[in-house]
Formats: sequence, structure tokens, C-alpha cells
Amino acid sequence: METRRYTTKQIEQAAADLKAGKLVAFPTETVYGLGADATNPEAVKQVYAAKGRPSDNPLIVHVAKISTVEHYAAGVSQQFKRLVDAFWPGSLTIILPLKHAAFDTVVTGGLKTAAFRMPNNAATLALIEAAGVPLVGPSANTSGKPSPTLADHVLHDLNGKIAGVIDDGPTGVGLESTVIDLSVATPVILRPGVVTQEAIERVIGPIRTNQHRVSATEIPKAPGMKYKHYAPNAQVYIVPSATDFKAAISWASQQNVPFGLMAVDQVLTQQSAVRFKDQFSLGNSVTSASQHLFEGLRYFDLNPEIKIILVQGFEKLGVGLAYMNRLEKAAGQQYFTSK
Ligand code: TXA
Ligand code: MG
Repeated sequence: METRRYTTKQIEQAAADLKAGKLVAFPTETVYGLGADATNPEAVKQVYAAKGRPSDNPLIVHVAKISTVEHYAAGVSQQFKRLVDAFWPGSLTIILPLKHAAFDTVVTGGLKTAAFRMPNNAATLALIEAAGVPLVGPSANTSGKPSPTLADHVLHDLNGKIAGVIDDGPTGVGLESTVIDLSVATPVILRPGVVTQEAIERVIGPIRTNQHRVSATEIPKAPGMKYKHYAPNAQVYIVPSATDFKAAISWASQQNVPFGLMAVDQVLTQQSAVRFKDQFSLGNSVTSASQHLFEGLRYFDLNPEIKIILVQGFEKLGVGLAYMNRLEKAAGQQYFTSK
């Protein structure tokens, strides 16, 4: 029998903490979120402080009922209703125009829109209901580090800065939600996720994908690091496909620093273990690789000896597009090429 890691009492305590303006990390099916009362600007400010997040990067508002969205948004469209029927609760975040002053600017980054999502996690839906307010919820990591897929990851980054974390074990999806902007004439995907453009188009017809807008709101740390995000301490190199690993390992061996591999089992078993320091399995498919990408990047941070990580790339199709979007950021766009 599956054991639940959290108790009803913990949910009640977490709801009380949130109502008191404290921060509580919550599980979702994508990654763990850093929760605060979306209607309490002082609480929301602490979210930015705890993460070290630039304050102009707006937050997702997590809800347990559609009526909460209707309360804040300036009229919901047919498109919204169709998407909600098809994908909520689930990994699709929907940006809508807001009623005047619906949220403090600290939530929206001063925009006239907000992002809404109903996560597919029973504990968190119960938590939102018990708190009686919508919750902001950026990924519960230090800004710039891989998003958390285990409660341990949350505590590693935020212990001492939060009232608690509701532990519901490993998240299922492993990559953050798809973000779609419905506040514009032609809906546009701002961040790819497991809910793909094709799946959305089957429900509402043609849309666009813009992969750069979300990262454009992120402030570069240094020249040349414009796209760096989710970054572990070691240098990440993307190995474009399984067949490139042999050459990549041979190249990494010549760098005279300990290096690690992240790939599917089939690739790992083909390599002779003497040449690299450590390895992390991405399972056996692009789906399992997506589930474990952030966990693997964090795994290598536990071993400061490792200076290079070679990570398997996948085709930018379906969930592969979301996986590669995160991996390219972790790698600062760095690919291994044999030429
Ligand atoms: O799966 C997820 O979405 C997770 C879990 C915890 O729900 N949350 C998450 O939040 O990934 P965060 O803050 O790490 O990412 C939210 C993204 C950011 O890239 C932000 O710029 C964008 O959504 N965003 C939020 N509100 C927006 C708005 N009004 N217009 C455009 N982009 C917005
Ligand atoms: Mg994040």
C-alpha cells in the first residue's frame, strides 16, 4: 500500500501558516512550488527574497476552483473554458487579463495580466481550499538553480527561510507547466511543457510558440550567461544524440577533469565505466528523462569534484521540446560537437 507522507494535520498547519503571511512549499505534479497568500503583498515579497528572484518576474497564481479565476480575471473566454475542461487540474498555466487592481503589482510584476494554474495534486488542492486564498507559487528553488522535484531539494535551497514543506514524494512530470498567453489575439506559448502545442491546438485551434519571451524577462548575471538557468556548478554539455556519446566521452577524458554522464540506461550500459567519475540514469525514454533532469543536475552538485557533465539531448518534439528548453538553459546553450 502506498503511504502518504503528509498528514491532514500538516495541511491544516500549513494553511494557518499561509493565512499568517508565512511561506509554505507545496507539491504539484510538475515541480514543488513556494507558496504564499497571493492577496497578501508582504507575504509575496518574502517569496522573492527567499528565492533571490528579480522582482519584475511575475508569479503564477494557483487556484483550486475555476470561480477563483473568474473572480480576478476580466471575463473568461470560450478558449479559456475549453482549455480548462481539457487540461485542468494539470500542467497548463493560463495568462488572462485582470480586473483593475485585482492583485498587488508584486504578484504581476506590474502587468495587467496574471498567470493562473490549477495543479493536479490532491494535497495542494486541499491546502488552497483550507487557506481560502489563491497561492502564488514559483518553483521552490533558489533562483537560477534547477527546479525542485523532491521535498529534499526544497529544503536544500530554502531551509530556514520557509515555515515548512508538504512532502508528497517525487513530482510526476518533473518540468514546469506549459505557459500559454490568452491575453493576445493569437494565443502564444511562452514556456513549453508537457502539455504540447499540438495538444492545445486540438482543443482551441492554431496558436504560436514563442520560446524566448519568458527568458527575456530574466536578468543576465554576466555577459555570455544570458540564457543560464537551472545551472549546476559543473559545466553542462549537451550530447545531441545517443550515438555521439562515444566521441563526447573521449573529448571529456582529454580535459583532465573528473566528469559525469546523464543519459538513458541503454546509453550508460554501452560506456566503459573507467573513464568517467559518476553517472545518473535518465531512465529509458524522453518522458523519464524529463522527470529526472533537474534531479540529475542537482545530484552532480553533491560532488564538487565533477567539473563537466555530459547530458543526453533529445529531438525537440512533444515533451522533448520542453526537456530541451530546460537543458539548453542549464547548459548555457553549450553543445558537444565532434567537429
Ligand atoms: O509548473 C509550474 O508552473 C511551477 C509549479 C510550482 O506550479 N511553477 C513555476 O513558476 O514554474 P515560476 O515562477 O518558476 O515560473 C512562472 C513563469 C515565469 O517564467 C514568469 O515569467 C511567467 O511564468 N509569468 C507569470 N506571470 C506572467 C504574466 N502575467 N505574463 C507573462 N509571463 C508570466
Ligand atoms: Mg522557476
